[in-house]
Amino acid sequence: MSSAVRSLLFVPGDSPRKMEKGMTSGADALIVDLEDSVGANNKAGARVTAAAFLKETIPQATRPRIYVRVNALDTGLTDDDLDAVVGAKPDGILLPKAEGGASVTHLDAKITAREARAGIDEGHLKILALATETAAALFQAGTYGGSSPRLEGLTWGAEDLSAALGTETNRDAHGEFTEPFRFARTLCIAGAAAAGIPAMDTVYVDFRNDAGLRRECEEARRDGFTSKFAIHPAQIVIINDVFTPSPEAIAAAEGVIAAFAAQPGAGVVAIGGVMYDVPHLKRAQRLLSRARR
Ligand code: COA
Ligand code: MG
Repeated sequence: MSSAVRSLLFVPGDSPRKMEKGMTSGADALIVDLEDSVGANNKAGARVTAAAFLKETIPQATRPRIYVRVNALDTGLTDDDLDAVVGAKPDGILLPKAEGGASVTHLDAKITAREARAGIDEGHLKILALATETAAALFQAGTYGGSSPRLEGLTWGAEDLSAALGTETNRDAHGEFTEPFRFARTLCIAGAAAAGIPAMDTVYVDFRNDAGLRRECEEARRDGFTSKFAIHPAQIVIINDVFTPSPEAIAAAEGVIAAFAAQPGAGVVAIGGVMYDVPHLKRAQRLLSRARR
């Protein structure tokens, strides 16, 4: 995932209407879902519907990035999901219930075989991984580095984890994530950084609550996420706004870089009575490279 992606909208793979609406939502990426938003008796139908959508939209010149969320590796559904969609050449696959780098390597092999069969360049399809949906996954969050050159982002989920851990809820009375979920969120940030890929924040399900969404986006950006998933098109404008580097943030970053450039070889500089050293310089460079894209 290039870090220019700010928003990723889930569209149920059995809903042509929502997939179509997703195309004009302003989302940087769509996630065509074959997993949790599709009922168990509709999996086969969703594959056909999703494949038809991909066939029509992937060749379009201007479009969002388009990924497919397949069913988890232990469901027995993953192979049929991949058989249905890889030939249409989506930008990538979102793997739910990932349990560390080994599951990404496993998915990579499955994709490689299908790319070869479809005459697609090896490595064309990328992988995003949902890294915190099972209890075991939490203990593997640091193992994604080097698992596959396809892996381009890590995200986390609080709904399946809640069921897995047996918690009564995942948010407190103020709407803030409770401790087990904040821990999973932090593991996602650290796991992504350790693997050298972007961390992408999970969905905000209260989709009529714009203020709550904006606050959660700002907290996500503050803590190192560069994008957020959405479940409703109305969430896209807010997510894109918060994850687009602001003119003030760009000016501040340029100020840090200019101060270091003015003192070649310096490890530390002062700007307006505040100390800036190498980590600040790296942060400024990272923000500017994101802004340029
Ligand atoms: N993508 C594209 N379009 C969407 C959409 C989505 N995720 N969610 C809603 N829309 C469309 C609706 O179809 C509707 O358009 P229409 O009236 O022209 O048909 C419009 O946006 C307004 O929808 P609204 O009435 O506000 O919501 P809803 O009650 O129809 O849908 C949800 C609510 C939660 C069922 C729906 O947003 C949804 O399916 N979200 C995705 C769920 C998902 O994929 N979950 C898995 C990941 S956690
Ligand atoms: Mg789920």
